[in-house]
Amino acid sequence: MSKRILIVGNWKMHLNASQASLLLHRLHERIKIHRNIEVVLAPSMLVLQPLSTQVDRRKFRLAAQNAYYKDEGAFTGEVSFSMLQDLVHYVIIGHSERRLHFHEDLEVVRDKVASAVRNSITPLLCVGETGQERHAGETKQVLHDQITTALSNLTADEIEEVVIAYEPVWAISTFEGEIAKPDDVESGLKFIRKQIAELYGNKAAKAVRLLYGGSVDDQIVRSYLELEDCDGALVGGASLNYHKFAGIVDSAYRLVQAQGEDDAGQ
Ligand code: 13P
Repeated sequence: MSKRILIVGNWKMHLNASQASLLLHRLHERIKIHRNIEVVLAPSMLVLQPLSTQVDRRKFRLAAQNAYYKDEGAFTGEVSFSMLQDLVHYVIIGHSERRLHFHEDLEVVRDKVASAVRNSITPLLCVGETGQERHAGETKQVLHDQITTALSNLTADEIEEVVIAYEPVWAISTFEGEIAKPDDVESGLKFIRKQIAELYGNKAAKAVRLLYGGSVDDQIVRSYLELEDCDGALVGGASLNYHKFAGIVDSAYRLVQAQGEDDAGQ
């Protein structure tokens, strides 16, 4: 059966308002609407507001890269989920750069996930082990701890809406940038789905969407999208290049089309 694919571009701390606007314009020219492909752009916080007035909502949805879990108060420098409610569909939570550079611990990630859901914003929860944890054989324990804590304040119904991105830190281009083997990715994704099934039941595990992120580009994305448990990709570096990002969406497009033809032939 053909699946719905979610492609998210995480622009990280790149592109000022005019650069972001130019990239959006180019992507708009290149990317076609497909009912089974959802394309999400995550610009910097500063650029969300202007981009929200320019974006064609039939083609793109917006995501924030971060937010604070309190709704308002004396928290200098922070922006709350409630303030983002009208601007974004999604928010990235628990990205390894926030966990490692900004020391966000499991409990902060949990509170952010709960706050996003409370404010009707879909969390894109990132989980993944570091290279050191991988070599120490701790991958499953790390994923287990990150998932169980992050989701602990949600109901099974709420879990169905959550998106989880498996982003092994060693595979992110700006960390070690090792290209993950599709088999390794599939076993990580399977483990995540199994955790959800054990905690919240099979219905939630089936509904939850799982993405892969880590050095994904237009050349290799299909090898991940073809995996049974992979519902899309979270793209960093390649999302800043419109050829590459549009190429990634094209790959998803061709895969969905091929699967549709297979379905029709059966
Ligand atoms: P790269 O695609 O640059 O490896 O980044 C992945 C990532 O961190 C997306 O959130």
